[in-house]
Amino acid sequence: MLLFLLLILQTSAAVGQIDPGHCRFPLGMEDGRVKDKDITASSKWYETTGPQFARLNREEGDGAWCPEGQLQHSDSQYLQVDLSVLTFLTLVGTQGRYARGLGKEFARAYRLNYSRDGLTWKAWKNRQGNTVIEGNKNTYAIVYKELHPSIIARYVRLIPVTELSSTVCMRVELYGCPWHDGLISYSAPEGQLMMPPGYPPASLNDSIYDGTHERSCSGGLGQLTDGVVGMDDFLLTHEKQVWSGYDYLGWRNDSQGTQGHVEMEFVFDRQRNFTSMKVHSNNLFTRGVKIFSSVSCWFKPRLIANWEQETVTFRTVLDDRNPSARYVTVPLNQRTAKALRCRFYFADVWMMFSEISFQSGENPHPDLKTSTHGELKVKSAAPSANDPTEETNTPILIGCLVTIILLLVVIIFLILWCQCVCKVLEKAPRRILDEEVTIRLSSCSDTIIMQTPPVPPRTGHAPAACGGGYAEPDVTQCTPHQSFHSNAPHYAETDIIRLQGVTGSNMYAVPALTVDSLTRKDISAAEFPRQQLIFREKLGEGQFGEVHLCEAEGLPEFLGEGSPLPDRDSRPVLVAVKQLRADATLQARNDFLKEIKIMSRLDDPNIIRLLCVCVSSDPLCMVTEYMENGDLNMFLSQREIESTLTHANSIPSVSLCDLLHMAVQISSGMKYLASLNFVHRDLATRNCLVDRRLTIKIADFGMSRNLYSSDYYRIQGRAVLPIRWMAWESILLGKFTTASDVWAFGVTLWEIFTLCKEQPYSLLSDEQVIENTGEFFRNQGRQIFLYSPPLCPPSLFEVMMRCWSRNITDRPTFDGIYQTLRRHVRE
Ligand SMILES: *[C@@H]1O[C@H](CO)[C@@H](O)[C@H](O)[C@H]1NC(C)=O
Ligand SMILES: *[C@@H]1O[C@H](CO)[C@@H](O)[C@H](O)[C@H]1NC(C)=O
Ligand SMILES: *[C@@H]1O[C@H](CO)[C@@H](O)[C@H](O)[C@H]1NC(C)=O
Ligand SMILES: *[C@@H]1O[C@H](CO)[C@@H](O)[C@H](O)[C@H]1NC(C)=O
Repeated sequence: MLLFLLLILQTSAAVGQIDPGHCRFPLGMEDGRVKDKDITASSKWYETTGPQFARLNREEGDGAWCPEGQLQHSDSQYLQVDLSVLTFLTLVGTQGRYARGLGKEFARAYRLNYSRDGLTWKAWKNRQGNTVIEGNKNTYAIVYKELHPSIIARYVRLIPVTELSSTVCMRVELYGCPWHDGLISYSAPEGQLMMPPGYPPASLNDSIYDGTHERSCSGGLGQLTDGVVGMDDFLLTHEKQVWSGYDYLGWRNDSQGTQGHVEMEFVFDRQRNFTSMKVHSNNLFTRGVKIFSSVSCWFKPRLIANWEQETVTFRTVLDDRNPSARYVTVPLNQRTAKALRCRFYFADVWMMFSEISFQSGENPHPDLKTSTHGELKVKSAAPSANDPTEETNTPILIGCLVTIILLLVVIIFLILWCQCVCKVLEKAPRRILDEEVTIRLSSCSDTIIMQTPPVPPRTGHAPAACGGGYAEPDVTQCTPHQSFHSNAPHYAETDIIRLQGVTGSNMYAVPALTVDSLTRKDISAAEFPRQQLIFREKLGEGQFGEVHLCEAEGLPEFLGEGSPLPDRDSRPVLVAVKQLRADATLQARNDFLKEIKIMSRLDDPNIIRLLCVCVSSDPLCMVTEYMENGDLNMFLSQREIESTLTHANSIPSVSLCDLLHMAVQISSGMKYLASLNFVHRDLATRNCLVDRRLTIKIADFGMSRNLYSSDYYRIQGRAVLPIRWMAWESILLGKFTTASDVWAFGVTLWEIFTLCKEQPYSLLSDEQVIENTGEFFRNQGRQIFLYSPPLCPPSLFEVMMRCWSRNITDRPTFDGIYQTLRRHVRE
């Protein structure tokens, strides 16, 4: 579990684009994936010291590449490696000529040149502007040098340099990962100097840009592609010894060259089919910095061509509450292009970007480490602390130590946490624990080498006895939340189990019942004569049963006076009958009975009502109200918002007021469940039913699992979870509370106001949703929130945002939500 926790931290640290900390795979000099023909040199001393022998740790030929003759200080001999694809380079390893003890040559220092097209060469400089890299001190040890900034190139030249005339020989390996973005250059107005009162001036220029700097930057790459994302406070930097504002490129709205917008052009290696663009942007609005208000992009199929007329425009949701820097994802609608021009419009006086990345056809999931790096993970990964090197290892060693310290902290936290929570879980059947574990596993199926220590969460709470450390510091954590305190005093509150519905995957939290303890008297609903249920049609089907629409003869009389049936006129009473297949497993059978038991205890106008049951003989049935309009998701997705236009065509419509009414009803039903301390665990529009008067009732038929299977995330064929509706603590810690139902309510509200036309986070894959969960947990502003639906009043979006607060205590209660929504309806 410890490992899983760490791995989660590791994975979530890598959201975004290339993470230089993890992009350190050997690129094939040592293992031969770089072919001999792709290694060339300006000269060689003998055939046996040709460039093909410049492979790290190999002893072929005379054991290394050596340029001809004695190297002079002014000489510029080079070894050139063609990596055959654009590559993100983060590390270089060099070694001298050992030749089984006979060699004595090595390079004490070298420079690097690189090229993306093989024609124009650029000299690498570190962040302080130095070009010379310190090399080897003996003939055998490998010296690794981190490249800060990293290089994006296809061709690399290593140029040995020497003070005094001497012979040099080299063996090398390059480390990095493929550059899937395909961006080969961008141009942008030069960043500006900011003079914040009371702070040192912040230089927001592109200081590592490798193109030309005349007036504007063009023809190169720089800060926006170096893989270093800026911090929330743009004055702080990741590097030491650089000026403040270093990580950002920033512009002022009223300066020359920016008339309310900043225009940038992006050129790619070839035509690509673009999915999206991610812009990492600062949002420190207290100092006049905000993400852009909108962006418009033009596309060009070839370099020499006109910009296509049709643009893609995207409006962002401006955020005045969270000052964190964040990635803004701009959908690019699968447009094909070789070059892009984008205009970013100011939302405030300053706009600052630290990274821009592109997701295009060839590379639909650049964020997933396995897919991007799998092919490069051969034999060994990047060098670790075991390598016999000198001072270059210190940062790695420190990294390891920090990791160990963190591990200890986690262990301490876990021990404390266990003292509190494990006591509760001990009594729970094994299955729920297994499930938690698989959830954790699922988010870290790719192995990531621990090179950089996991970033500790910023909350800074010391591990405390109850729920400190990584977990939520709320007091509710230790009180079992999920049970009917008031209703079922004779069950142990702490025994929480998982219940399966008809389809075998519903989850409820209920007091545990052993099979023999569940007897007829636990079911308060009355037994209805089976022969009086007359089949009309099939409504749904699941793994373990079916739902039928039936006519119930004599049901009003059966239920008697004050029965909850809506109207008792002469028409036949229609009911929904959920029936368990005769061949269902014993488990499914028990779960079915337990579901009956739960439902028979719920009594609220906005909760689906259990009318009666047939459990004295097989097949087991439960009879509930029939809701004519089906589930809310289906209902809304087939409708348009009411407008003057909708009268013209035949699409049925709903009004904004209807939507608000629906939201109020759901919150009212949830308020009732919360008052019983009942946790629903799967609130979503697909689990709300609509009758012909637009009354909404919360249900969970389990049928939805089949119809809406893409809304659920299957973990190794076992648990099925609605991750797009789940709070971070439910996914990461397996913790389900009323507060996590509140989170799901926020998502449900969002669905309502998008008229269920879109799945939440539709641009993210399931794995990315889980990574995003890690960002919610870390809360460093990199989490992606659902956008504000165009129909949604801003004050309502604020309610949603509050439902998605990281801290449970910051989320509203259902009672509070209900009151707020009611106010909206009245206005
Ligand atoms: C390295 O790049 C610099 C700058 O473009 C250039 O002046 C120099 O000639 C290059 N050297 C080699 C060996 O390519
Ligand atoms: C960027 O600004 C810094 C600090 O003002 C300055 O030293 C550096 O030369 C500038 N870089 C470029 C490329 O203009
Ligand atoms: C781009 O990719 C999408 C999905 O992969 C595809 O539907 C679309 O046709 C592609 N567009 C072009 C112009 O190739
Ligand atoms: C720049 O921002 C300031 C403050 O928001 C605003 O008053 C001004 O009109 C803006 N200028 C331009 C050119 O957009």
